[in-house]
Amino acid sequence: MSGSTRCLIAGNWKMNGMLQESLSFVNDMRENPAPEAVEVALMPPYTLLHALSKPFEDKGIRIGSQSMYFETSGAFTGSISPLMLRDAGCHYVILGHSERRDIMGEGNVILRKKLDAAWHAGLEPMFCIGEHLEEREAGTTNDVLKEQLSVLEGTDVNAPLTVAYEPVWAIGTGKTATPEQVSATHAFVHQELARLGRQCRVLYGGSVNPGNAESLMACEGVDGALVGGASLKADTFMEIIAAAARVAA
Ligand code: PGA
Repeated sequence: MSGSTRCLIAGNWKMNGMLQESLSFVNDMRENPAPEAVEVALMPPYTLLHALSKPFEDKGIRIGSQSMYFETSGAFTGSISPLMLRDAGCHYVILGHSERRDIMGEGNVILRKKLDAAWHAGLEPMFCIGEHLEEREAGTTNDVLKEQLSVLEGTDVNAPLTVAYEPVWAIGTGKTATPEQVSATHAFVHQELARLGRQCRVLYGGSVNPGNAESLMACEGVDGALVGGASLKADTFMEIIAAAARVAA
């Protein structure tokens, strides 16, 4: 963990979650599942945001969205605006997730528009970056991350931001980066952010589970986790929160 930063455990449900099962999830979550040193957030699909924002708030959990469009309103069939997310109670919005980059073709130009729109609406972007396996094997990880972070150039350094480093080869694969890889990469990301005038939390993501959370959270420069698969069940998600709390203690 980096110094005094409050650690964040965030769950990304991706395209999973029906109303009834998500209400059971809320019931299964403890009241304020984390001590003061750990913040908890969940990103369900759009369809559940309104229904879950109050029940999550009652459990001390912040709600966020997994994506958004950059326009405020208008003729953009099928899109969700930042203002709609605020209206639904969102604090966070995930931007730059590798699944959006790789499957939906989102690159730096659109991501910059989305970052600006999120800030304008009062949302805190959770900006994801990460290299593919070929890039790690070719030794170009830092170049890739630097290029992805370059969208932050010229943005207001005081606008709220959380960064999530998620090696693409570790997402949903059961493979995690080694503590050495995580510490070295997080050091580079923090250094690059400092060069851009920013000091912010850098989460780790990619197959985080109750078995590896404590060693990953203990790595230098890791300020929390972005959890996919293991956030779908309240008990595994709470075990990860407990692991982060032990490290933060
Ligand atoms: P995973 O997903 O934990 O299922 O690997 C992480 C993510 O995509 O944010």
